Amino acid sequence: MALSYLIQPGGHLSGSIRVPGDKSISHRSIILGAIAQGTTRVSGFLEGEDALATINIFRALGVKIEGPENSSVVVHGVGKSGLVAPRTLLDCGNSGTTMRLMAGLLAAQRFSSILTGDSSLVKRPMRRVVEPLTKMGAQIETSTNGCAPLKITGNSGLCGIEYAMPVASAQVKSALLLAGLYASGKTCITERVKTRDHTEKMLSAFGYHLVLSGNTVCVTSEEKLNATDITIPSDISSATFFIVGASISPGSDLVLRGVGINPARTGAIEILRLMGADIELQNECLMGGEPVADIRVRYAPLFGIDIPQPYVAAAIDEFPALFIAAANAKGKTVLTGAHELRVKESDRIQVMADGLTRLGVNATPTLDGMIIVGSNYDGGDIDSHGDHRVAMSFAVAALRAKTEIKINDCANVATSFPGFAVLASALGLNISECSN
Ligand code: S3P
Repeated sequence: MALSYLIQPGGHLSGSIRVPGDKSISHRSIILGAIAQGTTRVSGFLEGEDALATINIFRALGVKIEGPENSSVVVHGVGKSGLVAPRTLLDCGNSGTTMRLMAGLLAAQRFSSILTGDSSLVKRPMRRVVEPLTKMGAQIETSTNGCAPLKITGNSGLCGIEYAMPVASAQVKSALLLAGLYASGKTCITERVKTRDHTEKMLSAFGYHLVLSGNTVCVTSEEKLNATDITIPSDISSATFFIVGASISPGSDLVLRGVGINPARTGAIEILRLMGADIELQNECLMGGEPVADIRVRYAPLFGIDIPQPYVAAAIDEFPALFIAAANAKGKTVLTGAHELRVKESDRIQVMADGLTRLGVNATPTLDGMIIVGSNYDGGDIDSHGDHRVAMSFAVAALRAKTEIKINDCANVATSFPGFAVLASALGLNISECSN
């Protein structure tokens, strides 16, 4: 059944809350827990559909996993060579992270498998992961246009490679690292732009030795992973909708507790601060090797900026929300160097530009970014194209709209932020859900 959000205009956000667990780290806790020796206990796990897809795939690969229950999961690791051939297609749902990381892990197994996904995922580019895995000796067949389903043939030995990443992608880097855990020799990956390093941090937490030097990371197959307990911080990508909402609505004063602030993920905070946002990090600490803080946000007038390139990769998932901040800023905001946005769950450049234009905002899509001139804007009907982050971004945009905003095709919000509408409403957003 289709789900829509209806949001009445106005209001502000206040309170102190915890948003759900980090999606990227949740996936990795299952993947590494499954191939570790011993029992891994995970708390703060994201009970969203994407992370659940990863759990279901490992169940199909013979791993016993308890939960999730109250954000806790227990993974009974089978060791690096304990996975078994699946009897079914492996369904990654909407989750690109599941598909790309699993491609790396499964390419190194002796058994064959097929990864598939929903109507959005089967349109997303997979050659970026298939090509380097093929160089390692993997056999993976894609559709003619390089997309899923991925038919992976069982393999009796990959070889390590040295690979310079042509696209900034933590998913590709992680897929190659996972394959490298099984490959002969050394697998070394060099990034031009540093992307999120949750895989590297978590491999270390599982006692796996990797060599880091500058923007290069190397692994070998010589070690094993030892089960460990993992506490997952709140997801900064989910927190960003409320950080933007509070920044644009006068009277807001909000605290988001226990949010992961890995430097490869805090681009949105840096960008918003450059735009004039009032964002304070409090109680900073480390949680299983990942930096965490409480984030306090108060309303402040924003102004348009040229977004500096060094922040683009570290804010890649946050641009839908940042475009709403730009629509509320005085003057012009220009984003370039973000072509990747066109191959996310939707074409986020086109879909966000269409939605902003519908509200009366001057938003011009470019090949690799967007130019937005801030202004007052109306309400209206928005098509999220089934993209969770587009839906949540337009929901907070309603805080400053002149009339009601209706957002269609919102069911996929459950992939990353189950309970979004309830939490948003507790903070002061006048949002209701309707099924049609
Ligand atoms: C992710 C990496 C990013 C991000 C995605 C999650 C991950 O994708 O957009 O939501 O968990 O590794 P890319 O690595 O393709 O940029």
